[in-house]
Amino acid sequence: MLENVAASVGLENPLLLGLGLSREPQPLTLFIFGASGDLTRRKLIPALFSLFTKGAMSRVRIVGFARREWTDQSYRKLVREMLDSEDVPEAPGELKDAFVENVGFIRSSFESPDGYRIIRDKYADPVNRIFYLATPPDSYEVIIGHLHRAGLSDQTSGFARIIVEKPLGRDLASARALNDHIAAAFPEQQTYRIDHYLGKETVQNIMLMRFGNGIFEPVWNNGYIDHVQITMAETIGIGSRGRYYEQAGALRDMMQNHMMQLLCLVAMEPPVDLRPDSIHEEKVKVLKSIVPIGAEKVATETVRGQYAHGIVDGTDVPGYRQEQDVSPASSTETFAALRVRLDSWRWAGVPFLLRTGKRLSRRTTEISIHFKRPPLLLFADRHPAGTPPNVLTFRIQPQEGIMMGFNSKIPGPSTDMRTVNMDFSYGSAFGEELPDAYERLLLDAMVGDSTLYMRKDEVDSAWAFITEVLGGWADSGLPTLSFYRSGSSGPEAATGLLGAERKWRRL
Ligand code: BG6
Repeated sequence: MLENVAASVGLENPLLLGLGLSREPQPLTLFIFGASGDLTRRKLIPALFSLFTKGAMSRVRIVGFARREWTDQSYRKLVREMLDSEDVPEAPGELKDAFVENVGFIRSSFESPDGYRIIRDKYADPVNRIFYLATPPDSYEVIIGHLHRAGLSDQTSGFARIIVEKPLGRDLASARALNDHIAAAFPEQQTYRIDHYLGKETVQNIMLMRFGNGIFEPVWNNGYIDHVQITMAETIGIGSRGRYYEQAGALRDMMQNHMMQLLCLVAMEPPVDLRPDSIHEEKVKVLKSIVPIGAEKVATETVRGQYAHGIVDGTDVPGYRQEQDVSPASSTETFAALRVRLDSWRWAGVPFLLRTGKRLSRRTTEISIHFKRPPLLLFADRHPAGTPPNVLTFRIQPQEGIMMGFNSKIPGPSTDMRTVNMDFSYGSAFGEELPDAYERLLLDAMVGDSTLYMRKDEVDSAWAFITEVLGGWADSGLPTLSFYRSGSSGPEAATGLLGAERKWRRL
């Protein structure tokens, strides 16, 4: 019966039509390392439950792995409680009870071989296994080593896949070392590197919009596009993640992964088909075409900032240096902006302006394509701002949608114009809640589709670029850290990246 539900809610992946891959997972066990952590509680269990309600989990068992003194019974109780949290949409209690029946628990430290023996002996059937590492990355090596030694990465009789979360390293060298370590146990086809942005509906839609329509590609190049802005602004601070964030900063936390992925999707060439490798190939080409920003360029091409005390959504909030587990003299950046150039036929001369920050005035993630003005400005004196350029905006979140701004005549006897918007919004067009990114990504890993995961060389190439910027900052000490008021639109210095003619989109 559950299978029928799956079909009726359309679990087929449009990207895979024609590749003959089913969207119904084969019988498998999903082992979650870090069974009680924040990620498991807030994202994984709610996503797995949602898949269950859609009928996709009828042959999937979930097993938590942690050192806590829990049993199958007590872990089920905990998972049941997770389902009552506000992150989980309303659902009947019986459905939640039915979901937890398929949940088990292995009590073991990551260091002891015992837990891995239990996986091998007690959970031999079904033979297909997925290991989700929802742990801090310093546990990855030990877990992967044990899985390998226990023969659990072997695919002789069934599949064995591993899902790893960011941060995947903290620079190029450590990312390579980690990737090599993973590769020694799990070859590339068995490794799923997650970037949850790729699971968001609106992010998937970038490729579909570009290559599923005829009207965009002809103008998607330096002949018509003046510049591109990618903004990832958050109102939240770093909360209780001070220890992690002090070591990371905005460049590693957001720019190396999410922002670089968005850049790839906007700038990539059409893939030859929709196979994962064909898409990864094109993304890697974009990353390789980025002009490096090293010590001699960081002062003019980058901005780094840190939030000071201020007011966000009507609440008084402390500055970054006053946050828990943060040094009072910290120079970690909570805001970063870059002017990126791509050395490619399509994009030569078009700057990509990237900015991300915490404690800004508004939560918004968007990509805006700013077109060139018409060659002859016939109506320039008919608009207070001359002839404003056309802007196509992908609203990744919130109010997910796509908007095109163009100039139109104001009704009446004169020929004055105003900029108006053509607005597509998911809410009104499709009338349903968008699924959480993890739901899509977990299902993909279960059916063996790595399209929305990152291939090793993507991670490498993104790190190569970011490591150079980090090195440039360290060597030159420039640009100096700019402090910005919490609740503002970030450091003033960021306007300098645009040049006199351009403006950041309003936050
Ligand atoms: C995570 C970062 O990868 O993405 C966080 O570590 C950030 O610092 C989060 O808040 C943003 O994700 P989303 O989906 O809320 O935009």
